[in-house]
Amino acid sequence: MAGRIPKDFIQDLVARADIQSVVESRVPLKKAGRNYQACCPFHGEKTPSFTVAPDKQFYHCFGCGAHGNAIDFIMEYDGLEFPDAVEVLAQELGLTVPREKGSGGPQRDRAEIEDDFAVMEQAAQFFQQQLREHAKSASVIAYLKQRGITGETAKRFGIGYAPEQWDAVLRKFGGQKKREEQLLALKLITENDRGKRFDFFRDRLMFPIRDRRGRVVGFGGRVLSSEQSPKYLNSPETRLFHKGRELYGFYEMKQQDRSPDHVIIVEGYMDVVALSQYGVNNAVAALGTAATPEHLQLLFRQAPRVVCCFDGDRAGRDAAWRALENALPLLKDGQDIQFLFLPDGEDPDTIVQKEGAAGFQARVAQAVELKRYFFDHLAESIDLSQDAGKAALVAQAKPLIEKMQSLFFRELLLEELARRLGRDVAQLDQWIAKPAPRRMPEQSTKQVTPVVRAIGLLLQYPELGALVPVNPILEELKMEGAKIFVALHKQTHSRKYTSAALLEEWRGTRHEESLRRLAQWQHQVLEENREAEFKQTYRFLINKYLEQRYELLKATPVEALTKDKVREMEQLLRALKSEQSPTH
Ligand code: UTP
Ligand code: MN
Repeated sequence: MAGRIPKDFIQDLVARADIQSVVESRVPLKKAGRNYQACCPFHGEKTPSFTVAPDKQFYHCFGCGAHGNAIDFIMEYDGLEFPDAVEVLAQELGLTVPREKGSGGPQRDRAEIEDDFAVMEQAAQFFQQQLREHAKSASVIAYLKQRGITGETAKRFGIGYAPEQWDAVLRKFGGQKKREEQLLALKLITENDRGKRFDFFRDRLMFPIRDRRGRVVGFGGRVLSSEQSPKYLNSPETRLFHKGRELYGFYEMKQQDRSPDHVIIVEGYMDVVALSQYGVNNAVAALGTAATPEHLQLLFRQAPRVVCCFDGDRAGRDAAWRALENALPLLKDGQDIQFLFLPDGEDPDTIVQKEGAAGFQARVAQAVELKRYFFDHLAESIDLSQDAGKAALVAQAKPLIEKMQSLFFRELLLEELARRLGRDVAQLDQWIAKPAPRRMPEQSTKQVTPVVRAIGLLLQYPELGALVPVNPILEELKMEGAKIFVALHKQTHSRKYTSAALLEEWRGTRHEESLRRLAQWQHQVLEENREAEFKQTYRFLINKYLEQRYELLKATPVEALTKDKVREMEQLLRALKSEQSPTH
């Protein structure tokens, strides 16, 4: 794919973007004092707790904690990865995203990538046109009808027909050598051992697979008669198509419902399409793989609850357990994952045809909750009436529970484990490791150290950085966060930042999360005291360093005391005294 996006460009983009218009083009805002408000698009609510602050170029929801700058908003709202969100924002501002020349292999330039997408789109259009115009059109449409799919739904998903000729795509798009190589790379055509080229999909019902931005990246093709196999032929991984990343129906779902309260993962193309036919528009399908961590992360950005719906067969049960394992480390407080197993021989398609949307929804409403599925699955092969069985359950549950970040879910699973063992939770605590304490400065703001306080103030009011000189001795200060403070101070001292742009500098670093949290911190410093408070904190830090240095020198054994060290101690003492004197 394309090279990295230069950091300078990203900074420039954030500086030019206006958070208010980025949000407003997606969610209507109401003015509220200096800020703007709306009902949060990221969680269901009746009274607005979602705030956009134009001065900070930041949004924040007091209800669910969602927050960030213009890029974050597009990532969350449009369900995009960082580089794609940058592309979208740039597009909205009429800018072209430059790419660095990377070292890893030959770079393909933007125009070539755009052309790949264009060809895929044209192929999708071609298949749709064939569905209407091909000699076999009537029988293909009859097949769709017989499966309960109307023309409108087929259109919504861009369903088409790949003609049975061996060279329909080749003839339509081929001809030039370069174009044919491209078709080959995108697997619209293929080549046999003798170098003969022909269409990859022939005589199949075609499902275009769109990425999060709605661009066609691959296809699934279903046979129309049961004599042929395989039943589904899918585009293999290409330079555009990565199965672990895409979810079939995701883009179409977002077109229908921007923020569903839950998303259902099903197994097949036809499940997604049939559910949508019946008005259930919040289903997506993993493409022949179990839900990957990437899939789950994407879905949890769209909705707080993910329901994994699988066939009752062996493969379905395996897929469900793998989804659970992938979800454990990702789950946050406030999110939820549930499991719905359908009777053997049924899938969402057959259920919704038989029971209608209401019947299917009723099953979703009764999906199995995480803790029950977790322990039912583990207990399947364990005899809990035996001590050995109890030990085995702990041994198997332990590493899984320890993978979880969410304290809420840890407690929930620990309680359930205790219940199933007939023990007290307190007894389990010693067996299962607590999550590692979070890095500084993520600690609760109740015990804010001066460094954390200074960092928080700088993040929220970057203009404070220009008020005091950058003093690298603070890097030596033995107080957590001192290095981060100096780095932030260097940034804000040398140029103008909004909070949003400042945080952007820290994206992808290990401090990103903690700094984001501090940027939301309610510090209760009055506006008129802000500057004084920052200067005072800064002086306190310098002083603290001088003290530490003095103590260090004082501890030097007499024989190691040089003249220089003695002089430095005297200077330190003087500096410290003058700091404490009332005239200062
Ligand atoms: P299923 O065999 O359950 O088919 O495969 P289905 O979705 O119910 O299809 P219909 O109803 O017969 O049309 C589930 C999914 O597994 C993948 C496809 O993604 C399919 O939607 N699959 C299945 C393949 O990739 N290749 C196959 O040959 C079969
Ligand atoms: Mn099916």
